[in-house]
Amino acid sequence: MAGNSESPSSEAFRLFSSSSDEKPNLGFGFFDSSETPRPSLPPCVEVLPSEVSSSVKYIVEPVSLDGLTLLKGRVSTREVFALSNSDLVPGKYEGGLKLWEGSLDLVKALHSEVENGHLAFTGKRVLELGCGHGLPGIFACLEGAATVHFQDFNAEVLRCLTIPNANANLPKNVQPSALNVTNYDTGTEVRFFAGDWSEIDKLLHTHDIEDDPTNPVSGYDIILMAETVYSISVLQNLYELIKKCTSSPHGLVYMAAKKHYFGVGGGTRRFLSVVEKDGLMDFSMVAEVADGSSNVREVFMTLMMELEEVPIGRLTNLKRLL
Ligand SMILES: C[S@@+](CC[C@H](N)C(=O)[O-])C[C@H]1O[C@@H](n2cnc3c(N)ncnc32)[C@H](O)[C@@H]1O
Repeated sequence: MAGNSESPSSEAFRLFSSSSDEKPNLGFGFFDSSETPRPSLPPCVEVLPSEVSSSVKYIVEPVSLDGLTLLKGRVSTREVFALSNSDLVPGKYEGGLKLWEGSLDLVKALHSEVENGHLAFTGKRVLELGCGHGLPGIFACLEGAATVHFQDFNAEVLRCLTIPNANANLPKNVQPSALNVTNYDTGTEVRFFAGDWSEIDKLLHTHDIEDDPTNPVSGYDIILMAETVYSISVLQNLYELIKKCTSSPHGLVYMAAKKHYFGVGGGTRRFLSVVEKDGLMDFSMVAEVADGSSNVREVFMTLMMELEEVPIGRLTNLKRLL
């Protein structure tokens, strides 16, 4: 990412990258959370495209991803949240203004899945959880998804960054939308939702897989998420949300994250142990990135057990991985 001083491999990831960084002290706060009560949760709200921020400075720059170029903005954490650039404050600001390595890994993996014929977004309902910049969801729009819903903890992230990024990457249909939904020329219905994973299901398209496992029209066909599994305390909430939102029996989840977040305890394996314990979903590793510059990163696909069309050779048992 030439010229990007916000390189995801540098400042933000120092917090997680090595075991010598086991006790981050830059306001990341996971270790402080038992001493400092978490602030009350922000309300769950839909953020309309018309609510895009015009007061915060947004600088657009290209990101090259193995033959694919997307645009991303850069905004100041200080300007949006009155926090210094490296801060992540649990319950207040969860890191959505940074571009994290996992989201780039995820876009590359999705691109390669599409090119290999393992995945198609055309006509699909897609949800990106913990979107921040939203590049994986934007990729889904460009690949012809019917619906892409972006979710972030902070409405400010959606207003100042995710919506401007969508506008920068997706050619906009100038016809006004009666539904307050942005119509891009890709034909995708794009919406933005802010709120905590423990409550946001009330605004999203959910599907109660226990009550109605055969309803084909609710839930999302594909859920995307990058760098969302760092904190152990939220893994169960995140998994419960995924279960409510995954269309059954065809729903897929693509997750990119670090194998372990040293010092904070989460990681892909910790999340997959929650998935495995529940016994409803299976998973397969799609990519592993061990470039020596930081902790090992991984991309996994998770899917309902009863999905039989996926070649069995793609499924990996967690016990073999751990
Ligand atoms: C480390 S950032 C990753 C952002 C982006 N996916 C990327 O990879 O660049 C974590 C994301 O998860 C969201 N998030 C973290 N905890 C959350 C929670 N409890 N409820 C809802 N969203 C949360 C944050 O708002 C943020 O967008």
